[in-house]
Amino acid sequence: MLLAGVPMNWMIRWAGPFPLFVKEGKGARITDVDGHSYVDFCLGDTGSMFGHSPKAVVDAVSRQVRRGITMMLPTEDSIWVGRELGRRFGLPYWQVAMTATDANRYSIKIARMATGRKKILVVDGCYHGSVDEALVSLENGRVVPRKGNLGAPIDPAVTTKVVEFNDIEALERALRPQDVACVLIEPAMTNHGIILPDPGYHEALRELTLKYGTLLIDDETHTLCCGVGGYTREYGLDPDIITMGKPLASGVPVAAYGISRRVTDLVFDRIHDDEDESGIGGTLSGNALAVAAMRATLEKVYTEANFRKMMPLAERFSKGVEDAIVSEELPWQVTRLGVRIEYSFMPKPPRNGSEVDAHKDSELEKLMHLMALNRGILLTPFHNMALISPATKREDVDLHTGVFQESVSALVR
Ligand SMILES: Cc1ncc(COP(=O)(O)O)c(C=O)c1O
Repeated sequence: MLLAGVPMNWMIRWAGPFPLFVKEGKGARITDVDGHSYVDFCLGDTGSMFGHSPKAVVDAVSRQVRRGITMMLPTEDSIWVGRELGRRFGLPYWQVAMTATDANRYSIKIARMATGRKKILVVDGCYHGSVDEALVSLENGRVVPRKGNLGAPIDPAVTTKVVEFNDIEALERALRPQDVACVLIEPAMTNHGIILPDPGYHEALRELTLKYGTLLIDDETHTLCCGVGGYTREYGLDPDIITMGKPLASGVPVAAYGISRRVTDLVFDRIHDDEDESGIGGTLSGNALAVAAMRATLEKVYTEANFRKMMPLAERFSKGVEDAIVSEELPWQVTRLGVRIEYSFMPKPPRNGSEVDAHKDSELEKLMHLMALNRGILLTPFHNMALISPATKREDVDLHTGVFQESVSALVR
């Protein structure tokens, strides 16, 4: 029997007394086992950002599944994928992992190896997967374990420094002792609501990390929603390492991390060591099936042409929510990041995780999600987040606008 009856423990926390059990996902829709159909704006919390089972990926996976799933040897697709990731994201060396969590773990190890330092730095309210060092919070200036993290191996204050997003002074204070191997950060925060960087924040972050000899790891897993080269390409960032996962192979488990020449020069000899037990990678990492799915996604699905279709719909979604907020004079706001949209119960866009926490209303959030679900719309749990896929239609967006307007009107009466 599955623990808590679901394949991941937190799935019992979807709005409503039980999660939907899915019969099928296709394009931007899912159908549950009772035959109800929903427009899916959750899209597997980004894993299916390009729609469920895109044809090009289904075809590539079907082909590869007959030619070997996992051989623990490279296929030619891996060469194509490495080059293509380099072309898009501007870093020369790439490696494949199974999950974004793993890509982050391995990148942290590489940063430690390259700098000889132990600590990492993250921002309050971050999420980088189940990486123990990053499951931390800032409480009255102290680093404490994230509430709910099970069996943390050691006190995270030993491994991790935490500052607020957009706080350049705190960042410099934390980096000055020169004991931080890397900053691990999303270019724009997406796991505590969408929090955009202040103008000049990334320039300062890069300058300070270089000044104090700390590597900069940009976690692009969710910010791939900004375009075909993520936030990095869209806004011209220059990190040492980039990590990503989730939609890279349209939901087939795979992740990747890119590394600069400067960093690979520092660690290459160790990676080539005959005695290598680096703690990086696993038997299934880079398996032929996952790499074939990643190639098909990059070639046919995660494309400029699809972003040209998705962006106007994301703007339309955001405007629909904004208009309803204004019409009901609610002190709420909506923020868009590429094809990702999120509204929150606060009057102005947040600048950091603490501002989000101060306005969090889990009951209201659940109610909004349940109202949407009962009207045929699936949103991401614990967030008011929506994603637009290439399969999302204008009518889907307009359905959400109508349901959102109806819900907020009912709430204020
Ligand atoms: C920014 C970011 N990085 C990494 C991860 C971890 O992804 P996974 O759970 O697929 O390992 C997540 C998951 O939500 C994420 O939001």
